[in-house]
Amino acid sequence: MKSTPWWKEAVIYQIYPRSFYDSNGDGEGDLAGITSHLSYVRELGVDAIWLSPFYTSPNKDGGYDVANPRDVDPRFGDLEDFKALIMSAHNFNLRVLADIVPNHFSDQHEWFQSALKAGRGSPERNRFHFYDANPDGTPPNNWISLFGGPSWTQVDDGQFYLHLFDSSQPDLNWDNPDVHADFETTLRFWLDLGVDGFRIDVAHGLVKEDIGKDHPDPSGLSNALRLDVEMETEARNALLESVPYFDRQGVHEIYRKWRKIFDSYGNRDVMAVAEAWVHPPLNATRYVRADELHQVFNFDLLTAPFNRNFLFDVITRSIEHNATVNALPTWALSNHDSPRVASRIGDLESQALALFVFALPGSAYVFAGQELGLPDGQLDDSDRQDPSFIRSHGAIKGRDGARVPLPWSGDEPPFGFTTGKPWLPINQSWSVLTVESEKSDSNSVLNLYRSAIALRTEFLAGSGEIKWLESPLHGSNQGQLLGFKRGKITVYMNLSDKDCALDFDGQVIISSNSSSIDSNEKQVIPACSTVWILN
Ligand code: GLC
Ligand code: CA
Repeated sequence: MKSTPWWKEAVIYQIYPRSFYDSNGDGEGDLAGITSHLSYVRELGVDAIWLSPFYTSPNKDGGYDVANPRDVDPRFGDLEDFKALIMSAHNFNLRVLADIVPNHFSDQHEWFQSALKAGRGSPERNRFHFYDANPDGTPPNNWISLFGGPSWTQVDDGQFYLHLFDSSQPDLNWDNPDVHADFETTLRFWLDLGVDGFRIDVAHGLVKEDIGKDHPDPSGLSNALRLDVEMETEARNALLESVPYFDRQGVHEIYRKWRKIFDSYGNRDVMAVAEAWVHPPLNATRYVRADELHQVFNFDLLTAPFNRNFLFDVITRSIEHNATVNALPTWALSNHDSPRVASRIGDLESQALALFVFALPGSAYVFAGQELGLPDGQLDDSDRQDPSFIRSHGAIKGRDGARVPLPWSGDEPPFGFTTGKPWLPINQSWSVLTVESEKSDSNSVLNLYRSAIALRTEFLAGSGEIKWLESPLHGSNQGQLLGFKRGKITVYMNLSDKDCALDFDGQVIISSNSSSIDSNEKQVIPACSTVWILN
């Protein structure tokens, strides 16, 4: 019998290479900096790292604008550095996931440069979405870029090309066999170098339909796609179901082909996780059917309020939906595209939620710095680099706050991250959040994460399903406790700002708010915290 694949219930640590550790003093993190700090990652107890892009790139969108998908950008090092990273990671028993960006290339990719030269109607242009202008000179349709502004840019001879993101990120035409062949080469290239799998960027976006048509409400749609814009749920859902460039049936054919490549690596247990923002949520499970990918991100917790019923609903839904295709859910509280969870819902709240999530079935993703309890960095607009800030003329603040480099040690910025000037400034207030200071504080968020991951491995591996518990409380706190039992562990999260006295059997083995526990005998779930009880 085949043993459970490593990724089924893994903890996967997302590294944004530019912000992790700078080995050469140029102010930007790099591959050698990651390699030199893998022991820190190992000590955290995670199973794998996912590296955001480090490929050759003009870096207009944090490296998600790839100019050569089969090489390392000199800012990050070279292929030898990558090989060293893989070898060191594997020696530490850490798997490595690379980020694959199939929706678009950079406009500096040689394909796009030759498409510009080759002119209209050429096979080179057919690898992208080049169209003539409408008779009145306007772009082929009225779609809006996800970073704001039109999703079409005109070239010298008058044709327009499509870019769902920045104008420097021309969308690829997945009806063209060259595109398929090139990505298959790229997948094999990194697999042959030893990667254990991929995170697939904009996995739902590759196939476009109705390019010849205007959308009836492009600005409504563009707002609906922005998580920072409030909108009535039904209106948002109706708009999200009308996107002509997301979640088209054709994308699944692509992943079926890719799955065959992954499986051809036999006992390597190669896995891939899809970034697929789709609606209705059940559609996400199509990406993890048995012959497609292995995981799909569940983004519910990136936006969820710290609210009992809401959390109960989205967690239940994700578990149930994934079960329909025999998959396990994934959980992510932060990533490089969203506000950090500590800033979004609060320090104690985010720790409680993290400890709760670590006990759930499926894989948990941790965005580097989350384990330190980092908030978003406070930035001046003049520091911001995100294309969504630039394209929206500042109306969208963008994602730079979540990408501020990690504080490692010392009392002053840049806290050991670099000997030079960090690419984004690090706030002085982070002196209490450095790895060094948190290591020595037994109540730190870092030590909470380390203990939680270790206990998860010890007590929860392969424990199967959860069983929700009725809220055992009455009176003013009723409805503020969310609990489940899984294997030997009972988990309670107290979402209220009052301690809850509770009768339970067993021993508290971890609490997200340990400073407020006097002793294990006192049967209390502290305010705004999660506890695990060993039965
Ligand atoms: C994904 C990435 C994001 C990037 C976008 C365009 O959503 O996570 O960072 O800007 O794709 O590639
Ligand atoms: Ca560097």
